[in-house]
Amino acid sequence: MMNETKTYQVITYGCQMNVHDSERISGLLDAAGYVPVAEGATADVVVFNTCAVRENADNRLYGNLGHLAPVKQLNPGMQIAVGGCMAQKDRDIVVAKAPWVDVVFGTHNIGHLPLLLEKARVEHEAQVEIADSLVTFPSTLPSRRESAYAGWVTISVGCNNTCTYCIVPSVRGKETDRRPQDVVAEVRMLVDQGVQEITLLGQNVNTYGVEFSDRDAFATLLRECGAVDGLRRLRFTSPHPAYFTDSVIAAMAETETVMPSLHMPVQSGADAVLKRMRRAYRRDRFLSILDSVRAQIPDAAVTTDIIVGFPGETEKDFQDTLDLVRQARFAAAFTFLYSVRPGTEAASMPDQVPHTVVQERYQRLIEVIDEIAWEENKALVGREVEVMFATGEGRKDDRTDRVSGRARDNRLVHVTVPDGVHPRPGDIARATVTYAAPHHLIADTGFTGLIRTPGGDAWQAQTRPAPVSLGTTIPRRA
Ligand code: SAH
Ligand code: SF4
Ligand code: F3S
Repeated sequence: MMNETKTYQVITYGCQMNVHDSERISGLLDAAGYVPVAEGATADVVVFNTCAVRENADNRLYGNLGHLAPVKQLNPGMQIAVGGCMAQKDRDIVVAKAPWVDVVFGTHNIGHLPLLLEKARVEHEAQVEIADSLVTFPSTLPSRRESAYAGWVTISVGCNNTCTYCIVPSVRGKETDRRPQDVVAEVRMLVDQGVQEITLLGQNVNTYGVEFSDRDAFATLLRECGAVDGLRRLRFTSPHPAYFTDSVIAAMAETETVMPSLHMPVQSGADAVLKRMRRAYRRDRFLSILDSVRAQIPDAAVTTDIIVGFPGETEKDFQDTLDLVRQARFAAAFTFLYSVRPGTEAASMPDQVPHTVVQERYQRLIEVIDEIAWEENKALVGREVEVMFATGEGRKDDRTDRVSGRARDNRLVHVTVPDGVHPRPGDIARATVTYAAPHHLIADTGFTGLIRTPGGDAWQAQTRPAPVSLGTTIPRRA
């Protein structure tokens, strides 16, 4: 037993998987008797939940640990824990590089964190626990959810693909699917708690079902989750183009609660590059999936991830990517400079593209993406959109008096609300788009049809990162 209440802080990097894992980490620490630290105060336990997908993530972790060393010296009881994908990748290196770290725990060891902290405290020795595969599905752990109205539900962890640039399979392990009845039960439980919007999470949601050999398992799951009474909006991330079946498109089109938005990473528009990336589809296949999606879900907004400067990418390859962006008409795209990940196949490929070339292509790509996104947004001026007001984004902007939220297609919309009306996070209303910017819409007229969220009054204003690609919680312009 602890004789005084200790405080904690969890600092999260990386994708929604990590954001969701951090909710579990917080939940476990709550259950062990810790309390979240007050803003601005120094926590007794600082947990870093790390990402390893690109090189700058490594640099950031060791930089932050360096900043904490003197803080820890001033606060002798303080403990520092490092978990997540970097911990899984670097293992003992973390303690070697930063000996003031108390606990290093892997992506499969979240459940043991409180125990490891206790052990480190008693034994005065750093504890490193990294399991190579999943023992307990993290969804069975307690959770402190970041948002009252929106929640994540994990359907699978790990990835069986071998994209040659990617470190995720080596830090998250093989794909393990959760049983459909457990997924649906969690959705139901969250909806019973007042959750309005759910995002199903997996590194490769369409391969859901490999374990029970059901190719249409994800489509079936979408329909079952979408039918949960009381749920207003269902989203998912990320699908992989190689496994995107017509049954998924049909399930999206036919399930009213599944939102008309699709985040599907393409990575490159050049077949030769896709081949070297070991992405098992080609540009024509990707574009034909979008045609089918748009034929059945006309209002669908499609977003993507693109890597610039993969080894051997020629100017012609890059032009093919620009051309694909024009044809695909993405509503937004997350763009990444190719980052060498030691141990991946691409790291030892010949013809690594010089940094200046990558940087220059990156700028050109962003210009085309923004141009298309803006055109797509402008086409919505005059249209009525349904907006779900968002926590964090839900507060009124003092300057403009607008309240922000997400349209059904996931576009960010800033809405002017009539005097005396105060939408809360999770509330829904309709409004008419009056102006379009490349990355958001403004709806200054036509506010109508406010639907209140049950329980919304009691909810604290909390922050939640905007829904983004699995690769980052930081939009590229931020
Ligand atoms: N499982 C998801 C992606 C997870 S990683 C999927 O396949 O869709 C998220 C994004 O990070 C990827 O889509 C890719 O665009 C980017 N990424 C991954 N490894 C990278 C690397 N080595 N360099 C640059 N970007 C990378
Ligand atoms: Fe798996 Fe996605 Fe990484 Fe490919 S990019 S290996 S699908 S996590
Ligand atoms: Fe891990 Fe997600 Fe980063 S799976 S490597 S935190 S993108």
